[in-house]
Amino acid sequence: MSLRDALRIPAAEITDESVYRERRRLLAALSVAPAMALSGCGQAEPPPPPKVALTPAQARSGFRTDETLTRFEDVTTYNNFYEFGTGKADPSKAKRTLRTSPWTVAIGGHCAKPGKVSMEDLLKGFKPEERVYRLRCVEGWSMVIPWLGVPLADVLKRFEPTSQAKYVAFTTIADPKQTPGVAWPSLDWPYREGLRIDEAMHPLTLLATGLYGKPLLQQNGAPLRLVVPWKYGFKSIKSIVAIDFVETMPETAWHQAQPSEYGFFSNVNPTVDHPRWSQKTERRISGTASKLFAERIPTRMFNGYADQVAGLYKGLDLKKWF
Ligand code: MTE
Repeated sequence: MSLRDALRIPAAEITDESVYRERRRLLAALSVAPAMALSGCGQAEPPPPPKVALTPAQARSGFRTDETLTRFEDVTTYNNFYEFGTGKADPSKAKRTLRTSPWTVAIGGHCAKPGKVSMEDLLKGFKPEERVYRLRCVEGWSMVIPWLGVPLADVLKRFEPTSQAKYVAFTTIADPKQTPGVAWPSLDWPYREGLRIDEAMHPLTLLATGLYGKPLLQQNGAPLRLVVPWKYGFKSIKSIVAIDFVETMPETAWHQAQPSEYGFFSNVNPTVDHPRWSQKTERRISGTASKLFAERIPTRMFNGYADQVAGLYKGLDLKKWF
C-alpha cells in the first residue's frame, strides 16, 4: 500500500496502537507455546533459588574422592567434543587446529566490569588446585578425573555481577578453521551452556585448565572448560570464549536440539529417566586396558554430591525442572 493510499484510510479502520500491541503479544505467546510444551516447562522461569549456607568443610568434602581414577589414556581418547566430530575417538584423532594461545574470553552482560580479557588476566593471582571429581555422561558412562582448575566463583566475582545477573551463559569457540566440526549441523553452533548464578558460584563448580597435572589437551576442552560434577557431562562446556551474566534462563545447545530430552538443569538424577533410556545405573570407564567399561553401578542422586548441592534445589520439582 502506498503512503497516499494509507492516508485515505478512514480513521475508524486504523487499529488503535494498544489493540495492535496486545494482538502482537498474543501472537508471540502462541508462537512459543509449542516449544514450551515440548520442553515440559509449564512456565518460562523456575521459582527463584533458596538461600543456602554451605560450610567450607561440607564443600571441601566434595573436592576429592578416593575412587579408582580413570586412566589418562581413556580420559584423553574417549571424548565428546562435537566441534571435532561426533565419534568418541574423533576429538583425540583430530588435527591440532585449535589455537589456544593467545586466548581471550569476552565477559558481558550484567556486571560492573565487562570486557575482553586474556586467559592470563582471567586467572591472574589464582593457583590452580586439584579436584578429583566424578563425571557422569548422560549416555550412561562415567569417569573419575583429577582436574586442575580454579573455583569459577572466584573468577566471576572479579567482574562484579549485579543483582540482575540471575544466570551465567557460556559459549564455546565456533571457527570452521579451528573447530572444523562446526561445518556440520550436528548442533546449532556455537555450543552454549548455562548455569543459575548460585550454581555458578557454588564451591564445587570448577573452571578447569588441566587434568592429571597437565594443561588440558584439545580434546578435553583446552585451554579452559567448565566442570560441574553434579550435572550430566554436557553441562561441562569446553573451550570457552564468552561468559555472560544474564537475567533470564539462557538457551543451551542440547536443550535447543531436543528440549524434551535435555532440560536446563540437567542434574544427575536416577529417578528421572531420559525419555529414551534409564538413568538408574552407569558404567565406569574402568581403567583396564582389556575392558573399557566396568560392571553397572547404581547412579547416585546429584552424582553423589547431594550433601553439597541438594540445598540449591529445595522446593524445586526436579521432575519438571529436569
Ligand atoms: N563442550 C563442547 N563445546 N562441545 C561438546 O560437544 N560435549 C559435552 C561436554 N562439553 C561437549 C562439550 C559432553 S556430552 C560431555 S560428556 C563432556 O564434554 C565430555 O568431556 P570429556 O570429553 O573431557 O570427557
